[in-house]
Amino acid sequence: MARILFDNISLMVTNDPIHDGTPLGIINQGAVLIEDGKILWIGESSSAPRDDVSEIVDANSQCVIPGFVDSHNHLVFAGDRSSEFRARMQGEKYTAGGINSTVEKTRLATRESLVSNVKSLVSEANSTGTTTIEIKSGYGLTPAHEKRSLDIAREFTEETTFLGAHVVPAEFIGNSDDYVSLVIGEMLDEVASQSKWIDVFCDRGAFTPDQTRTILKAGIAKGLAPRLHANQLEAGEGIAIGVEFDAASVDHVSHFTDSDIALLSRSNTVATFLPGAEFSTRSKYPDARRMLEAGIDLAIASDCNPGSSYTNNMQFIIALAVRECFFSPEQALWSATAGGAKALRRTDIGVLKVGARADLLILNSSSYIHLAYRPGVNQIEQVWRDGKRIK
Ligand code: NIG
Ligand code: FE
Repeated sequence: MARILFDNISLMVTNDPIHDGTPLGIINQGAVLIEDGKILWIGESSSAPRDDVSEIVDANSQCVIPGFVDSHNHLVFAGDRSSEFRARMQGEKYTAGGINSTVEKTRLATRESLVSNVKSLVSEANSTGTTTIEIKSGYGLTPAHEKRSLDIAREFTEETTFLGAHVVPAEFIGNSDDYVSLVIGEMLDEVASQSKWIDVFCDRGAFTPDQTRTILKAGIAKGLAPRLHANQLEAGEGIAIGVEFDAASVDHVSHFTDSDIALLSRSNTVATFLPGAEFSTRSKYPDARRMLEAGIDLAIASDCNPGSSYTNNMQFIIALAVRECFFSPEQALWSATAGGAKALRRTDIGVLKVGARADLLILNSSSYIHLAYRPGVNQIEQVWRDGKRIK
C-alpha cells in the first residue's frame, strides 16, 4: 500500500483545534502522511515518520487546507437561463417560477446528456478544490424524472437529496396539495433508495409551512434525513421548521429574525449561506455577524444551478462570504470545509486528522487569506481526494 508524505507545508489548516486552540487548528511547518485514502499521521514536519514512505509530495512551502465540502447543489438539469440572468441584471426580479423552464428542458433531455452535464460540472468543481459535493434532484418533478435525476446524482456522490418539492410544476399549478400528495406518495417511493436527504423549498411562490412539514414527515418516515431551502425570498417559518425537525441544515437564510437566531443557537442545525445566489439575483446579501456572535455553526456552499447561482467555484463563494457577508477569512474557510461537513452530518471530511478521508488541497500561495483576497484567480495547485491526486 502506498504511503504518501506531504511535506514542506508552510501553513496547514486542519480544522482540528487540538493543534492551536483555534477552530482552524493551524500547524506551521507541517507534514501529513496518508495511506489507503486515509490520514495516518499529521503534525510538524520535524517529527514526521519517514520509514516506509513510498512517495513524498513537496508542498513547496505553500499552504495546505482540507478539500472544500460543497453541501448545496442542483446539478441535474438541461439548458441554461442566461437570458433570465441578463434580464435580472437590467432590473427584473428573481422568482421561484423560473424553475419550471428548467423542468421543461430537463424532462425532454436524454439521460446521456444529463449525465454528461453533471460530469462536467463535477469535474469543474473538483478542479477548483471541491472534494465532496451534494447533489439535489428537483428539475424532474414526476416520479420517473425525479428517480432518473437521483440515479444520476448517485453516480457522482453519496450526498444525494430528493427535492421533489422544489416548485409546483406547471401541470399542478392551482392544485399544489395534489402535487404534495404525489411527492409524499409515489414519487418518494421511487426515489427513497437513492436519496440520503429530503429537502423542501419553503418560501414565497414555492411550498407553505404546512406543506413543508407534511413533506419532511413523509421523507423521515422513509428513512431520509431533513434539510431545507429556507428564507431565501422572505423571512418566514423555514428556519423554525428546520430546527423543529432537527434538520442538518437550513440553507439560504437570506432573511432571518432574532427569534431565528435564538432557535438556531440552541439547535444542532447548521445555517448555510449561499451568497452566489445573492450575486446572481442581485439581492441583498445576508450579514453573518449576528449568527456568528450567537455561536451558530455556519456553512457556505455554491448552490450551483442554472437559475439563481451558476457557479461551482468555492473560492468565489469564500470571497463573497468575506466581502459581502462579513465572514472573516478564517470563518469563511471553516464554513467551506468543516461547516459544509457538519451541514452533511459528516465527521470524516472537512478536517485533516488521523482517520479522516485524505481530501486536501495544496494552494499556490502561502496563506489561505488569498482565497478571498485574490477573487477570480484560481488558488489551487493540487487537489487530492480519497488519497488520490485529481488535479
Ligand atoms: O437554491 N431556491 C430554490 N432553488 C434554487 C434555484 C433554482 C432555480 O432558479 O432554478 C436555489 O437558489
Ligand atoms: Fe438551492
